[in-house]
Amino acid sequence: MPKLFDPIHIKGMELKNRVMMSPMCMYSVVKEDGAPNEWHDVHYTSRAIGGTGLIMIEATSVEPNGRISYQDLGIWSDDHIAPFQRVIESCQNYGAKVGIQIGHAGRKAMLEGSDIVGPMGEAFSDKLLQPRSLSTDEVKKLVESFAMAARRAVKAGVDTVEIHGAHGYLINQFLSPRSNQRTDEYGELLKFPLEVITAVKAELPANMPLLLRVSGTEYNEGGYTIDQMVGYCQHFKAAGVDTIDVSSGGDGPKGPSEVYPGFQVPLAARIKHEVEIPVIAVGLLEEPALAQHVVSNGQADMIAIARGILRDAYWTNTAAVKLGSGVQLPKQYARAY
Ligand SMILES: Cc1cc2nc3c(=O)[nH]c(=O)nc-3n(C[C@H](O)[C@H](O)[C@H](O)COP(=O)(O)O)c2cc1C
Repeated sequence: MPKLFDPIHIKGMELKNRVMMSPMCMYSVVKEDGAPNEWHDVHYTSRAIGGTGLIMIEATSVEPNGRISYQDLGIWSDDHIAPFQRVIESCQNYGAKVGIQIGHAGRKAMLEGSDIVGPMGEAFSDKLLQPRSLSTDEVKKLVESFAMAARRAVKAGVDTVEIHGAHGYLINQFLSPRSNQRTDEYGELLKFPLEVITAVKAELPANMPLLLRVSGTEYNEGGYTIDQMVGYCQHFKAAGVDTIDVSSGGDGPKGPSEVYPGFQVPLAARIKHEVEIPVIAVGLLEEPALAQHVVSNGQADMIAIARGILRDAYWTNTAAVKLGSGVQLPKQYARAY
C-alpha cells in the first residue's frame, strides 16, 4: 500500500510526496491589481522549503469581477504572467511542484461597486450583493476566460492547473439545481462546467494533469448529493480531468452536521472507487498518522492540508519525521532534527 511520503505520478507530473498545500485565499493583493507580490513569494516559498509535494496557489480569478474581494489574486491579463512566474519558480527551486487554482466567484463576489454576475439574478443571501443573470453569450465568453487563464498559468510555468468547481462559486452555481434554473442551453447543469474543462484542457501540454476541485455534496435542500456528484465526475473524467480534489458544501447556508478529523474522506473515497480516478482528500487531516492512513488504506491518492499548513509552514517536514519516513530534510535544518 502506498505511504504518504511515497512519490506519485499524475500524468507527467511527479510529486515527491502526497501532500498538497490546499488552496487558500490570502486576500493580500495590496494594489488591487490581482498580481502576486513579495508576500505571496515568501508565503508559498516557505511551504516549499517546508517539504510540501504540491503547492496549490489560492483561488485566482479569471476575470476582475470573479474575485471574492479586491485583494484576491487574478490571472485575467498577460501582465500577471511574470509575477506568477516569480512565485512558481521560487517554489520549484525548493523541490515543490506548483499549480494555480483558477476560478470565478460568480454571485459570491463581495465586490461593492462591481458588476456581480451569476447563473440567475438571485443573491446568495441577504448579506451578499445582488447579482445579475449572465446572458448566453457572456457564459460562452467566460469559458474563453477560463481557457485564457490556463494559457497564462502554463506560460508562468505551472506543473498543473486546478479548476475551482467547489464551495458555491461560479462553476458550482451552474452545477447546482439550487442556483441554476436557467432556461437557455446552460440550464443543463453540466454544460458550463464541461465546456470549461474541455477549454482549459486544450490549453495544457499533453502530459500536464488537470485537477478539478468539487464539493462532494451540498448539504442544502435542492442541492446535489454525493450520488449525483459521482455521476457528474464520470463526465468530468471523460472530458479530461485527471484528478478530483474533493471538498464539500458552499452553495447554501447549511454546512455538514458534524465536523471531525477526516469528515470529507468518505466523499473522496466514493469518487475514487466508483469513478476510478485519482482523488485528493481534504478536511482536518493534519494528524500525520491519519493522513498516512487515508493514503495507505486506499481512500485517497493524496491529502491536502489547509489550516494546519498555515499554522506550520513546515507541516510536511514535521510529518515526515513523525512518521519515520526517512525523507531527506533541508540540509540547512539538519541539526534541528
Ligand atoms: C484561509 C482559508 C482560505 C481558503 N481559500 C480557499 C480557496 O482559495 N480555494 C479553495 O478551494 N478552498 C479554500 N479554502 C478551503 C481549504 O482549501 C480547505 O479545503 C479547508 O480549509 C479544509 O481543510 P483543513 O481542514 O486542512 O483546513 C480556504 C480555507 C482557509 C482556511
